[in-house]
Amino acid sequence: MTQVLAVHTPEEKVLVVDFGAQYSQLIARRVREAKVYSEIVPHTITAAEVAAKDPTAIIFSGGPKSVLIEGAPLIDAAIYDLGVPILGICYGQQLMAQQLGGVVGGSGAGEYGRAIMSIEGSADSGDGEDVPGSAAGLLVDLPSPQTVWMSHFNAVVEAPPGFAATASTEGAPIAVIENAERKMWGVQFHPEVAHTPHGQDVIERFLHDLVGCAADWTTDNFIDTAVADIAAQVGDRRAICGLSGGVDSAVAAALVHRAIGSQLTCVFVDTGLMRKDEGEQVVETFRRHQGIELIHVRAADRFFERLEGITEPEQKRKAIGELFIRIFEDAKGGVEDAHFLVQGTLYPDVIESGTAHAATIKSHHNVGGLPDDLDFELVEPLRTLFKDEVRSVGSELGLPDEIVLRQPFPGPGLGVRIIGEVTPDKVALLQEADAIVREELRLAGLEREIWQSFVVLPDIRTVGVQGDERTYGFPAVIRAVTSEDAMTADWARIPYDVLDSMASRIINEVAGINRVAYDITSKPPGTIEWE
Ligand code: XMP
Repeated sequence: MTQVLAVHTPEEKVLVVDFGAQYSQLIARRVREAKVYSEIVPHTITAAEVAAKDPTAIIFSGGPKSVLIEGAPLIDAAIYDLGVPILGICYGQQLMAQQLGGVVGGSGAGEYGRAIMSIEGSADSGDGEDVPGSAAGLLVDLPSPQTVWMSHFNAVVEAPPGFAATASTEGAPIAVIENAERKMWGVQFHPEVAHTPHGQDVIERFLHDLVGCAADWTTDNFIDTAVADIAAQVGDRRAICGLSGGVDSAVAAALVHRAIGSQLTCVFVDTGLMRKDEGEQVVETFRRHQGIELIHVRAADRFFERLEGITEPEQKRKAIGELFIRIFEDAKGGVEDAHFLVQGTLYPDVIESGTAHAATIKSHHNVGGLPDDLDFELVEPLRTLFKDEVRSVGSELGLPDEIVLRQPFPGPGLGVRIIGEVTPDKVALLQEADAIVREELRLAGLEREIWQSFVVLPDIRTVGVQGDERTYGFPAVIRAVTSEDAMTADWARIPYDVLDSMASRIINEVAGINRVAYDITSKPPGTIEWE
């Protein structure tokens, strides 16, 4: 696959410089919540590269290192002379202070978690001169004292020349520095986390008032420009899009359809391994409601045949992934002269500097995906968006909640939720039990709090007694987790009475299952899926 469709980015943008913090994505999202477009860049970016991007403002993220050690990540100091407003956060503040002539030192025990910050009323820079900015600047109208969230060992102990120190906590006597003339501000606390109650106010004060951003990055604007860009790029050629049933490919397809209408054909490979009724729902939504031309390949039999006798999880993933690609390739042959392939790639997948995920625990990302030697030009209209933005674009385009708010679902589908060999009978059992869990959670109003909820069918049978009869059936294991990003997860504290309804309904309504267990393993040490 060649050449990515150039994605138009708005003229007003904030660069979030990543110093290796777990927070840089969060900062980028908070900026977007303030309706300003943001991009994450690595700290190795040069001043010339920054200038070429022509940002409206720059935010330095926090980072795990100390500015005092050799080899601490630095930034090209010529960036300070570009005249672009800068906000430094935590490590970013300390680095800025150090590079501009201030002093950073150890702050005793450090400060982790909540701290009480007092805002100074004065604009004294410490050397007797009055400096513009200070309490009238970044922290204007904010209550003092207030709670902020800290995570640092070092702190600024002397503000750089020309900067005022405008707030303090016990562990950080210089918690905020400001230089309105040079348009540079630094905060030791983390304004991007929810534990800093006025954090978003600080970010918005910086962007809207001090920098003067227009704050017009909205879903509507995004759709309008994306549609124009896609139409310009595709011209009168044809595009195809593989629908997985998930949110990303659904929204990408709906957006491209709005731009090029009937020049788009979608291909939905129905593996038979989706949740109950989900296959029909995809067809119904896209063909009927959205009016998108859809090739629906009913391939369940081929998948079951291919999975016969396979019990090892990675082998299952591989078998499903390979067959999926083969079927997709056959189907696309039916779309004459398709030149473009639409993919639902999101911003977190493309962040240049991102900390690469650790060891491969499961071969996730090549399953249900397509190989990169397909002869297409790619259209990836969601490359600049975070997941929550994709959901709101989807809603705006008229996709139903069942699709837009859908939980993450593994590419190999129920194949990795059936331990041991996958057979049509087991899939049918699992679909029924799984639908009950979903329905009970919905009735209890809990579905939005839960990241993923599903049933696993182990490869064992247990003895039970029902209506005076001995039974010998499968146990169903309910799995429900809360999570932010699937990298870590906790088991959901579902109330006992909800678990009770799930268990009795599964046993009464699904013949073949005679026992129910609830999985209370967090991740780590467990994973979310069982295989
Ligand atoms: P684990 O089980 O590793 O899963 O905690 C983390 C997230 O990834 C999903 N997952 C997959 N997604 N193909 C996918 O596209 C896969 O093979 C796969 N395995 C797990 C899982 O549902 C969870 O959201």
